[in-house]
Amino acid sequence: MNVPIINKYKAYPPMKIKKRVWPSKLIEKTPIWCSVDLRDGNQALVNPMTVVKKKAMFEVLVELGFNEIEVGFPSASLMENEFLRQLIDQNLIPDDVTVQILCQARRSLIEKSFSSFSGARRVIFHLYNSTSTLQRQVVFNKSKKEVIELAVKGVLDIKELSGNNPETEVILQYSPESFTGTEMPFALEICESVIKAWDPKPQEKVILNLPATVEMSTPNVYADQIEWFISHLNNKDQAIISIHPHNDRGTAVAAAELALMAGAERVEGTLFGNGERTGNVDIITMAMNLLTQGIDPDLKINDINRLIKIYEDTTEMKVHPRHPYAGELVFTAFSGSHQDAISKGLAEMKEKGAGLWEVPYLPLDPGDIGRKYEKVIRINSQSGKGGFAFVLERDFGLRLPRGMRPEFGEVFQRYLDSVKREVAPEEIYQCFKKEYLLSREPFELLDFREYTEENTGGESPKVQVRATLRVKGKRQKIQSSGSGPIDAFVKGLSQSGLADFRLIHYEEHTLEEGSDSKAVAFIGIGLEENKAVFGAGEDSHIAIASAKAVVSALNRYHG
Ligand code: KIV
Ligand code: ZN
Repeated sequence: MNVPIINKYKAYPPMKIKKRVWPSKLIEKTPIWCSVDLRDGNQALVNPMTVVKKKAMFEVLVELGFNEIEVGFPSASLMENEFLRQLIDQNLIPDDVTVQILCQARRSLIEKSFSSFSGARRVIFHLYNSTSTLQRQVVFNKSKKEVIELAVKGVLDIKELSGNNPETEVILQYSPESFTGTEMPFALEICESVIKAWDPKPQEKVILNLPATVEMSTPNVYADQIEWFISHLNNKDQAIISIHPHNDRGTAVAAAELALMAGAERVEGTLFGNGERTGNVDIITMAMNLLTQGIDPDLKINDINRLIKIYEDTTEMKVHPRHPYAGELVFTAFSGSHQDAISKGLAEMKEKGAGLWEVPYLPLDPGDIGRKYEKVIRINSQSGKGGFAFVLERDFGLRLPRGMRPEFGEVFQRYLDSVKREVAPEEIYQCFKKEYLLSREPFELLDFREYTEENTGGESPKVQVRATLRVKGKRQKIQSSGSGPIDAFVKGLSQSGLADFRLIHYEEHTLEEGSDSKAVAFIGIGLEENKAVFGAGEDSHIAIASAKAVVSALNRYHG
């Protein structure tokens, strides 16, 4: 008989705490950040980083401002050993940066680690062994006492070897791996035994790193565990409480933040949360969360694109478009009402100058991390007239005069109704082009030349225009003078009996910068009372663009 799937799982037991303090605490201090990109992040990659990639990532982590960086598990891999040797031998570790190495509690590995980092000024020796109930039973088959003995033996080995290598200051870090799968009193007992075995000198502290190796519960339970652990720890002043959340339930950032409220002082995590399975806690998100609460995260995240680039190059993975703060769609508004509120908020910010950032829908000034706010206009039959005008300007550099927009709006609406779907920006431009730039009937401009007439005493010089048109299939030549080429052209059309109208609106602008830049002209002509018809023309010569716009308007009127 099949067992119902729901019977395969059970709820994670909550902590039985009568009074918890952390829920009323705030995060008021930046934690000590430790990057584990080069170890936990790296070990979870399909293609682990090469030494070259590790060095590039290390350099960026240093620039970002990390003072503690776990560089690998050098006793377990030749490549990691080689990387660490290069860091030390090439003097690439700045004075204010301490490298951290990971090692299991085995004498041979501990010895190898010491030779890997020999010559380093200071190292955090990260010792770990799994303490979880399940792993003690199914993986190691060891009693609690044996697991404690293993950790203590490891500590004593490190202590002995660091005594033999006085040129390197060794800071001890101990992780009861799978802390959240361990009975809390046992986790406490093993950590206290470790501190006792290390016997720190006055002022010296052991880093106790309490990992959610697998995230198994809601974040509040992790906070309860951290608070319980700290409040029961005997040698509090000899320890720095560090957390190392993974993201199996998708709440690593929340768990880390609540754990900080519960008293943790140090966070191990990675850029954008790379790491085993669903990843480690994302330090960039945590740092940005602090910044947006007015707390300096102590990391220089003013160019997030550079961080994304190094992340993507070294991990061969992509940052999700909706990743907090970093995704490419994070500062993009699709909804019209959001766009409207953001525009108003930005205008208000501009008016009041510097001050608190208060813009609806944008919790962060994108400029602070080297990004820009963008609005995406979706063009479908529900979009307003502002939509297509925005796209024509943004993507094709065309600034339609306000008065022309309702007219093109009707044309475009007919197109939308015929295709019955959302349309791409290029389709808007093609629709505009067909309606305004390609019309040839009944008027087609074949040739257009302008000449400045000789000054005939006192008056400003006149412009003479000679143009050839095809009108309803017949070639027609016109020649006329005016105050400018358009005035002359309009007069010529009237005098030759081809078209009689008033010029109501004229606007032009260049389309691209540069010597061979094109111009676009928009012309509104009046043939009937209160009714303007618009035309548009493009040419590298502005007078020809304007004449084309006149012809375009005439065709639209007669079409
Ligand atoms: O997730 C984990 O428990 C680890 C330990 C080695 C700290 O990465
Ligand atoms: Zn981990």
